[in-house]
Amino acid sequence: MSRNRRGLALLVTVALALAGCTADPEPRREPRSTPTPGATPGVTPGPAGVGDPYFPTAGNSGYDVERYTLKVRYDPASDELRGDATVRATAGADLPLFHLDLAGLTVRRVTVDGNPARHTREGTELVVTPAAPVRAGAAFTVQVGYDGRPEPLRNETIGEGGWLHTADGAVALGQPESASTWFPVNDHPSDKAAYDFEITVPKGLVAVANGVPRGQRPAAGGYTTWRWSEAAPMASYLSTVVIGKYRTTTGEHRGRPVFSAVADTLPRGAADESIARTVTVADYLESVFGPYPFAAYGGVVVDEPRIRYALETQSRPVYSANFFRGGENTGVVAHELAHQWFGDSVSVARWEDIWLNEGLATYAEWLWSEHEGRDSAQATFDQQYAASDDGVWRVPPAAPGAANLFSESVYQRGAMAVHALRVTVGDDAFFRLLRTWAAEKRNGNATTAEFVATAERVCGQQLDDLFAGWLYGTERPAPPTRR
Ligand code: TRP
Ligand code: ZN
Repeated sequence: MSRNRRGLALLVTVALALAGCTADPEPRREPRSTPTPGATPGVTPGPAGVGDPYFPTAGNSGYDVERYTLKVRYDPASDELRGDATVRATAGADLPLFHLDLAGLTVRRVTVDGNPARHTREGTELVVTPAAPVRAGAAFTVQVGYDGRPEPLRNETIGEGGWLHTADGAVALGQPESASTWFPVNDHPSDKAAYDFEITVPKGLVAVANGVPRGQRPAAGGYTTWRWSEAAPMASYLSTVVIGKYRTTTGEHRGRPVFSAVADTLPRGAADESIARTVTVADYLESVFGPYPFAAYGGVVVDEPRIRYALETQSRPVYSANFFRGGENTGVVAHELAHQWFGDSVSVARWEDIWLNEGLATYAEWLWSEHEGRDSAQATFDQQYAASDDGVWRVPPAAPGAANLFSESVYQRGAMAVHALRVTVGDDAFFRLLRTWAAEKRNGNATTAEFVATAERVCGQQLDDLFAGWLYGTERPAPPTRR
């Protein structure tokens, strides 16, 4: 284990410890309303929840969102947010009513296709009853006017998520949930959509979001409106807004805009240099995984003590300043950029599939380390295989339980499973599989079962026993050998 790698592993471990991960696979919260008995996820009209066993109320059934248009005005001095959200969706069933997720804030007005609609709040659900039911198959537009002081969602086991008021602005960030703290949303990765953002902040502050920068223009009262658009389907937890005093870098790479921002409170140095390597790392990953999936590049470094992680927010990851306190760190950049393929473009269908994101992103760190002339992927595997404790072998990464979503098993054993697959099938088949998986599932959602099926098809061999041990077993599998 090189100094560098130990540093990163330690940081991840510390970050996870700080987030309070426990070994107890408890569901994180109780459902507030029960889905209709016998309901099929995705087609049931109305009820809260898409049927994710780990997060029963996350998301909503009965419709599919195509686009969010989010106009938000935020005053950091008062912590007041005023929002106007337009949600364009298609009904999957007749909808006499439907739910959106919204935590806190005050809803002032809801229309459906321009007509006023009744609305009530039930916990973190906004229940909308249109004047007339939306018919199955119909496209419809919901507009919600709201305001208030956003509050993050607190969770004892996996940390807080959502809109955080910071010293000079705000950061909206978090996984598995964060979006519902600042806009009404179908808050589950199974319903991906395009996003347009118009973020209005006091003049002099920067407001960054996902996707392609669409410029700034003056707004009333000494404010500035920053516009962004993410045209590729995006899971709601991958949306972000960062407001504050930042030094920004703009550019172009392979015909795509680059926009990065580093908190002004940080000394110029390691953070700026690491983020500046974004396009180089992305080009390397492209050579392994296939075409970069999005229309923009970038990264944001925040100096906010409550954010101890990085998150793979689409096209523009957000990094805690902590990652760069010890000097340049491109390992974390490789991890978050690898998620652009695995997590963002190919998204989990349910949260139990999280190892598909974290195992592959951690493996990308191993590949990047080898590419940079540091430890080889094999050396990193050997070290992890020898050093991982019982906790890692007892928690199956492909069925970790809600409390262990971000456990070491998901990250390190997930990456070890990827390496075991590589050793078993050989480099040719392995790298073909990664590219095939990214291409076939691009802009979609995927499950572990689909990954196993794709691996068996691409590699031309049965692999269920291999995956059974590495992904679902509760003890350390034998080291892999070439078949
Ligand atoms: N997915 C992130 C990563 O691996 C880590 C993460 C888990 C996270 N939960 C979070 C980041 C909440 C921010 C907020 O890079
Ligand atoms: Zn990750």
